[in-house]
Amino acid sequence: MLEARAAVRRLKEYHPPLGGRVGLRLDFNENTVGCSPRVLERLRQVQFEPLARYPERESVERQVAAHLGVEPAGLLLTNGVDEAIHLICETYLEPGNEVLIVEPTFSMYEIYAAATGAQVITIPAGPEFSYPTDSVLAHISPRTRLIAIANPNNPTGAVVPRSDLLRILRAAADAAVLVDEAYFDFYGETSLAEIERFPNLFAARTFSKAYGLAGLRIGVLAGGAEQMAMVRRVSSPYNVNAVALACLPEALADQEYVRAYVAEVRQGRERLEQELGSLKLHFWPSQANFVLVGIGEGHEAFLGGMRKRGILVRDRSRDPGCDGCVRISVGSNEQTERLIVALREVVRAISPMGVPA
Ligand SMILES: Cc1ncc(COP(=O)(O)O)c(C=O)c1O
Repeated sequence: MLEARAAVRRLKEYHPPLGGRVGLRLDFNENTVGCSPRVLERLRQVQFEPLARYPERESVERQVAAHLGVEPAGLLLTNGVDEAIHLICETYLEPGNEVLIVEPTFSMYEIYAAATGAQVITIPAGPEFSYPTDSVLAHISPRTRLIAIANPNNPTGAVVPRSDLLRILRAAADAAVLVDEAYFDFYGETSLAEIERFPNLFAARTFSKAYGLAGLRIGVLAGGAEQMAMVRRVSSPYNVNAVALACLPEALADQEYVRAYVAEVRQGRERLEQELGSLKLHFWPSQANFVLVGIGEGHEAFLGGMRKRGILVRDRSRDPGCDGCVRISVGSNEQTERLIVALREVVRAISPMGVPA
């Protein structure tokens, strides 16, 4: 009988709860109001010709490289950051290699890494989900081939100081260090500028979050030109579809739209964090477009109460160290106000003591 590879058979199934997402979507950290109108206009103009041809990535890649200030030879457009992670694993990992990740974090690092047969070593986050740099450094061995770091991290919103990233890059010169900057727009600090100094550094960006294009699937992987030439060898030449390539220049050109959305999210994040404080709910200060909240025992009732009010938030209670936790994405001001009204009602309903005055 045909059998999948042993490493694949050992993988756990991963089913993000995507079915029937009706209501205010604060569960997947997407943009909650949609992309730039310029992108929609470009979509309306798409003709049969680009759909009939295989997509050409290079000219758009040059535009994205110019936008990010990196060499085109060091940049690959990908089918979302998910594919960027997959390509890094395919390029660098073999059975017997070690991969370091700090938990809790984004699930796809472990899945793609384990699928190659490499051994994934999970290191628990430090106090209040801080990045345990010393512990990561202590785990680096001659077998370490990849260290994946979400900065800011999902689901915690925590960040890694630049000086700590540099220590890891220096200590793991024979490993790929992937800094996943999916939430860069809401944070503002990047490792891109370090690529020239560190040939083992890769940075990934996405258009799924601030740009509102999760459904088009476009991301970026940047690294040194020499290493990226290797990554390109395992990539399909047609990994990014023609519609995404047609829309991306418009999305990039409308920076005003992205700036306005990001500003609103950052304001909303502050507003939400203040409100969580007044409701005496424990939360972890976030640099991304979501906040992780410790609800505790009532977390099932909390999720149900929010759902009843038409607001989808994400149960993260099964993530390591996240017992009773829920992750709430932040959207527009109006949506944040609606969220806060619902939060007050639900917290009052599930708390036997009621909400403090
Ligand atoms: C840290 C992190 N990286 C990558 C992704 C996936 O990004 P993309 O939509 O570009 O595949 C996510 C999505 O939630 C994420 O949280």
